[in-house]
Amino acid sequence: PLANWNGDEMPLDQVRVSVLDRAFLFGDAVYEAIRVYSGRAWLLGEHLQRLRHSLKEVQIVADVDRLHERLARTLANSDVQEGVIYIQVTRGEAPRRHAFPKEPVTPNELIYIKEVEPSPTAAGEPRPGMRVVTFPDWRWKRCDIKSTNLLANCIAAEHAEVNGCDEAILVHHDGSVSEGSRSSLFAVRAGALLTAPADESILPGITRQLVFRLADRIGLRVIEEAVRHETLTQLDELFLTGTTTEVAGIIDVDGRPIGDGTTGPVTAALQDAHHRAVQ
Ligand code: PDD
Repeated sequence: PLANWNGDEMPLDQVRVSVLDRAFLFGDAVYEAIRVYSGRAWLLGEHLQRLRHSLKEVQIVADVDRLHERLARTLANSDVQEGVIYIQVTRGEAPRRHAFPKEPVTPNELIYIKEVEPSPTAAGEPRPGMRVVTFPDWRWKRCDIKSTNLLANCIAAEHAEVNGCDEAILVHHDGSVSEGSRSSLFAVRAGALLTAPADESILPGITRQLVFRLADRIGLRVIEEAVRHETLTQLDELFLTGTTTEVAGIIDVDGRPIGDGTTGPVTAALQDAHHRAVQ
């Protein structure tokens, strides 16, 4: 993959960074992942806005407009048509102490573009339904910040993988199901969409927000109310959304089928609307 490291273009495997970078020592960094369709960065403005929010909340000062220019240049030079752009901004390198460095530090800014297989919906095929497991939401209380501190997400994703599943959905101690380890969660109940409110306990997904607009277009009501763990398998449909997940039906939770065990009609309609939107 082609990278842009602090403004210089180079192959990703040639980027070198100090072990004193605070991202390495503390997970002190924020990031974004952006899908590229037909050579264009999809919903780029929304992603850069969320990056600004993450940077502000963790008090890292970086020039997002400059990152935008670098991204556009590197994307064009990469020639990638179907891909994912990864952007990460770290607080920078400094001797290890918890409080922020008092000497001025320069954030380390990484962008790289990875090629991906075109999504199955682009070939006119349905996306395969996903099997998921539930796992406790061990994350901190500011999940609205897209931080690289992802250990709780990684442990949940690993739990899914070793159980032969595609994703883990995270259960809060109050019994609400917040989102996936790397995706947003929706349910269909009595013809309306249900999804957790975008407070500080979830990442405000860009695809989640797009699904709100798509739902509006096809006349579906969206209720911002978290799905409850105990009623999960009684819902008509469940699906996940995300930059790389797109819109994916959930067919099974913890070994129990959802609906008739295939992607439901409302999910399929939204998948179709999503596919048309990204054209
Ligand atoms: N993950 N929730 C979490 C915890 C996520 O990490 C993500 C994205 C989402 C979906 O957000 P969006 O629609 O903006 O991609 C929800 C990215 C893809 C990642 O970590 O690579």
